[in-house]
Order: sequence, then C-alpha cells, then structure tokens
Amino acid sequence: MLLPLLLHLLLLPFFFFTPSYSTTTATIGVNYGTVADNLPPPTTVATFLRSQTTINRIKIFDTNPDILRAFAGTGISITVTVGNGDIPNLSKLPAAQSWVSTNILPFHPKTAINRIAVGNEILATSDKDLIAHTVPAMKALHQALTLANITTVQVSTPHSLGILTSSEPPSSGQFRPGYDKAIFAPMLDFLRQTKSPFLVNPYPFFGIDPNRPDSLNWALFKPNGGVLDSVTGLNYTNMFDAQMDAVFSAMKKLGYDDVELVVAETGWPSAGDPGQPGVGLDNAASYNGNLIRHVNSGQGTPLMPNRTFETFVFSLFNENLKPTISEQNYGLFKPDLKPVYDVGLLTHQEVRIFPCIQ
Ligand SMILES: *[C@@H]1O[C@H](CO)[C@@H](O)[C@H](O)[C@H]1NC(C)=O
Ligand SMILES: *[C@@H]1O[C@H](CO)[C@@H](O)[C@H](O)[C@H]1NC(C)=O
Ligand SMILES: *[C@@H]1O[C@H](CO)[C@@H](O)[C@H](O)[C@H]1NC(C)=O
Ligand SMILES: *[C@@H]1O[C@H](CO)[C@@H](O)[C@H](O)[C@H]1NC(C)=O
Repeated sequence: MLLPLLLHLLLLPFFFFTPSYSTTTATIGVNYGTVADNLPPPTTVATFLRSQTTINRIKIFDTNPDILRAFAGTGISITVTVGNGDIPNLSKLPAAQSWVSTNILPFHPKTAINRIAVGNEILATSDKDLIAHTVPAMKALHQALTLANITTVQVSTPHSLGILTSSEPPSSGQFRPGYDKAIFAPMLDFLRQTKSPFLVNPYPFFGIDPNRPDSLNWALFKPNGGVLDSVTGLNYTNMFDAQMDAVFSAMKKLGYDDVELVVAETGWPSAGDPGQPGVGLDNAASYNGNLIRHVNSGQGTPLMPNRTFETFVFSLFNENLKPTISEQNYGLFKPDLKPVYDVGLLTHQEVRIFPCIQ
C-alpha cells in the first residue's frame, strides 16, 4: 500500500505542472500506412489529426485519391509516394507529366501536397533498373511540376541506412562504393539545386545489440555510458544521433553537407514475437517520446549542432495486415483513434501520468 501512495505523492507535482510542460508546440509528421482492413475512413483521420493532435504533416505510401481529397483544406502537408514499379517509365518527361496530371493537379493546392517521394528504399531492392532510373525520374517529375507551374512540391526519395558501407564510428560514414559517384552524387546535386532534402529512414530499433549491456538504453535516448567517436572525439549519447551523423559524414565526403536531412521514417514496435529483443509498450513510448523531444529541441547532433529535423514517425496506426507481430505494432494510434501510448501529440491532454518518460 505504501508504494502506490509514495508514487502518488511523487507524481502529484507533475500532474499540476502538466499544462506548462505540454508539448503542443512540438510538431511532428507521421507515416500514414494503410496495410490494414480496420482503419477509419480518411475523412475521419483528417479531422482527428487536424482537431486533436499537433501532427501537421503526413507521408503516404501511394497517391490514394481518397486520402488526398480528405486532407483538402486541413493545412496538413502531405508527402506522396511514387510506386517503385512506376520509376522506369517516369524517367521520361511525357510519362512524368501524365503522372503529375493524374496524381497532383486534381488535388494541389487545396490539398497541401508538398513533396513527392520517388519510390521507397530503392537501393535496398538491389534492382539495377530501378536504381538507374531513380535520379532521371526525380528530374523528370521536377520538370513536369515546373511545366505545370508548380513550385511548392519538392521531389526526393527515402533511403534505408543500408546505403552506407560503414557507419561506426559516425565519422566513418560512407555511401556504398560505386553508388556513391553514380547515384548519390547526382542525386545530391539535384537536391541541392532544387533546395530539397535528402530523406533517410533511421531505425535504432534494428541497431540494438543484445550483447552490449548499454545498447538498448543508447537506442532509447535513456541514460547510458555514451559511445565515443575516437576520430572526432565526439561522444554519442544516443544511437539516433550516431545514425544521422553517419549519413551526414557520407554526404560530406561527396561535398554535399549543405543538403538538408529529413527523417522520412523512424519508429519502434510496441509489441512483437515472444522473446524478441527490445519490443514493448514502454520502449516504444520512450523511443518515440524522447525522439520527438530531441528532434524538436534544436540541440541537433554532434556533427550537426543546433539543427532541428523534420521527422515522420512510423507509423500513424497499427496495421493488422502487416506480416509479423512487430510490424503490426508500430502505430501511435489504434484503429479506433485511441493512443497506443502517449507521446504528447494530443492537443487536449488528459492527465498525463508520466509527463517525462525516460
Ligand atoms: C510503362 O510504359 C509502357 C509504354 O507506355 C506501358 O506499356 C507500361 O504499362 C508502363 N508500365 C507501367 C508499370 O506503368
Ligand atoms: C505557366 O505560367 C506561364 C506564365 O505565367 C503561362 O504562360 C503558362 O500558360 C502557364 N502554364 C500552365 C500549364 O499553367
Ligand atoms: C559520454 O557521455 C556519457 C553520458 O553523458 C558519459 O557517461 C560518458 O562518460 C561520456 N564519455 C566520454 C568519453 O566523455
Ligand atoms: C549553437 O548554439 C549555441 C548556443 O546558442 C551557440 O553557442 C553555438 O555557437 C551554436 N553552434 C552553431 C554551430 O551554430
């Protein structure tokens, strides 16, 4: 009986201070994946996000016209995605113009489409035809937008961290040889010219090492001993910074450290298979809560001090048709719009019992 009472007393001050702590100023994006048969209709989702959360941008994995129509007039920015299989054709201008006519012009600007992701993790497909056509498709789509007088839609493509041959220590970050000059240099050049960001999908969840005692805390932004980059002398207190700086180092080696970085996907599963390391409600709440505070804090990373990162959490909803238990449980919300756990993105906070998840 004593313990609950003590807890209650300890938590009491936080209850009262909750309003002033409220992270309602934090903005964050979410990936609105739809591999599920139980999600609410897009109009319900749009109303919910606009009226009850601070989420002000979404990324979708296609160009679903129902979603694009539902978000008209919400002010929520949208990144749409070109299907990987469409990339080879879209490297030709007429096909790119036709794609823009079908997927952008009917909705823009009432629906605030502000970015086109040309495929998803193309390098990870190892499909040489797709890889070779990605930059040409990005250029053709940009030209098609320009010809349609659309200047507010960026064109980019998201990458997994598999694009790096080396990522530890962060200063050793380097793109895969061959692709560095053939793909990444022209891509970064295009992004620089069009003032568009390089998109990366860092997942510290996949980097945890069960053999390193501090690894989980390092991944979750919890207190840990840090990891020293002996080349730069910089001390990394979380894995997210280390992954971002590895990408930054690779960009810098090619001479493109001025191109902005956007976190197109990151997240943590709140459930998984029995015995699967790291999965769980508390860890998912810690990772996403600490991540949102970190990317919005203006602290930046050791190699990118004082920067904030536009960040899209994966994912908005738990998606019940994903193949594995953990993949089904990346959502911040359940299909009935109830939070899976609280990461401070609701505008009308009820009493938050753990305002500072550590
Ligand atoms: C690509 O273009 C060709 C010729 O226009 C067409 O036959 C084919 O269906 C297109 N492929 C895709 C995936 O759209
Ligand atoms: C784009 O703008 C130019 C100059 O205002 C105009 O001449 C042209 O017709 C416009 N093109 C389209 C597709 O709206
Ligand atoms: C790195 O930071 C951690 C956490 O603040 C600290 O415990 C550790 O001593 C630091 N390591 C070095 C080499 O400065
Ligand atoms: C980052 O911000 C701190 C505190 O405002 C300032 O002293 C430092 O010069 C800034 N660093 C960079 C690289 O802008």
